Amino acid sequence: MRTFPDGFLWGAATAAHQVEGGNVASNWWQHEHDPALAAAWGIVEPSGDAADSYHRYREDIRVLADLGLGSYRFSIEWARIEPERGVVSRAAVDHYRRMVDTCRELGVEPVVTLMHFTVPRWFERDGFWRAEDAPDLFGRYVEAALPVVRDVEWICTVNEPNIAAMLAGGEDASNLVAHGLPNPDLHVADQLLASHERARDVLSQLPQAKTGWTVATQAFKSTGEPGADDKVAEYGHPRDDWYLEAAKGNDFVGVQAYTRTFVGPEGPLPVREDVETTLTGWEFYPQAAADGLRSAWELTGGVPLMVTENGIATADDTRRIAYTQASLEGIHDCLAEGIDVRGYLHWSLLDNYEWASGYRPTFGLVAWDRETFERTPKPSAHWYGGVARANALP
Ligand code: NOJ
Repeated sequence: MRTFPDGFLWGAATAAHQVEGGNVASNWWQHEHDPALAAAWGIVEPSGDAADSYHRYREDIRVLADLGLGSYRFSIEWARIEPERGVVSRAAVDHYRRMVDTCRELGVEPVVTLMHFTVPRWFERDGFWRAEDAPDLFGRYVEAALPVVRDVEWICTVNEPNIAAMLAGGEDASNLVAHGLPNPDLHVADQLLASHERARDVLSQLPQAKTGWTVATQAFKSTGEPGADDKVAEYGHPRDDWYLEAAKGNDFVGVQAYTRTFVGPEGPLPVREDVETTLTGWEFYPQAAADGLRSAWELTGGVPLMVTENGIATADDTRRIAYTQASLEGIHDCLAEGIDVRGYLHWSLLDNYEWASGYRPTFGLVAWDRETFERTPKPSAHWYGGVARANALP
């Protein structure tokens, strides 16, 4: 038996746009429905009603709690809270507050993300993250959201700023799934960091709040060919390492890891044909979480860590169990090495809208019916719930 520390958070994650449905005031909804934008982003289908979690959140939290999980990471949607520039929707703030209250009522620790990729349409129209006043606007939104998080301990400011900076140019998002990741926009990276810092300032008035951002640790690996090691450093720094180094003063950092990418002397390589891949086309590589934790631990100089996302898109649920078991073994090794890991939040609680790739890549522990929205936990959900209840791996 591999036992985890007392108080280790076991949970699952979602993000607003990917599960709520009807996120009409957001920039992604606009991308989905404008034919030119949808084509530019390679969007295969619109999000529509998604899992209808905006209305069914109570059921989602109950399913999670009944499985034996103790934490739910969800995001609140800026586009709902501030659908027009400067106009705050009290109803949306109250809605997300009810989600936090529901978590508490059902014994679930909320982990709240303030910005999970999507922004209001007006924010994109007015210059997006490039706009000079973007950090101020983000700070103003966080102030409006204070009633939601006033007593929440774990708050993620910006989700995967490193991916957001790579997508800021509006390049085909399927590049992320294939290879040859787009170049990050370094000005956007600076603006995201400034926005994150602004959010931390606003949240510093909440004595209980632990704030951090969540980084996609992409595990760039050298092929070992001459010149490849240098390329890994050159390639990985502006895409991963910079964001971990920048998080040195955070209360915690979220590590989000799924796979690895090999880099040769010329740059990143496509996934080899002889390895097992998942429905996103990524290599089945459950060591990604441990790799990400080790690198985050080193680059942040020992900031407490949480795995805020890790999982696998598969139609074969036995592979989800195998992946998660191996991931957790790696995380347990990290704990034994002295790395301060506070929790594991599986991606995802529900099958959901995987951005440009639509609904085909199923990451969920829980399936739902596209007509009735009825939730059905998969065997992996019950397996994972057992691990959480035991606070130990079999
Ligand atoms: C990271 C993102 O935060 C999330 O939105 C996405 O669905 C998963 N990774 C899987 O690609």
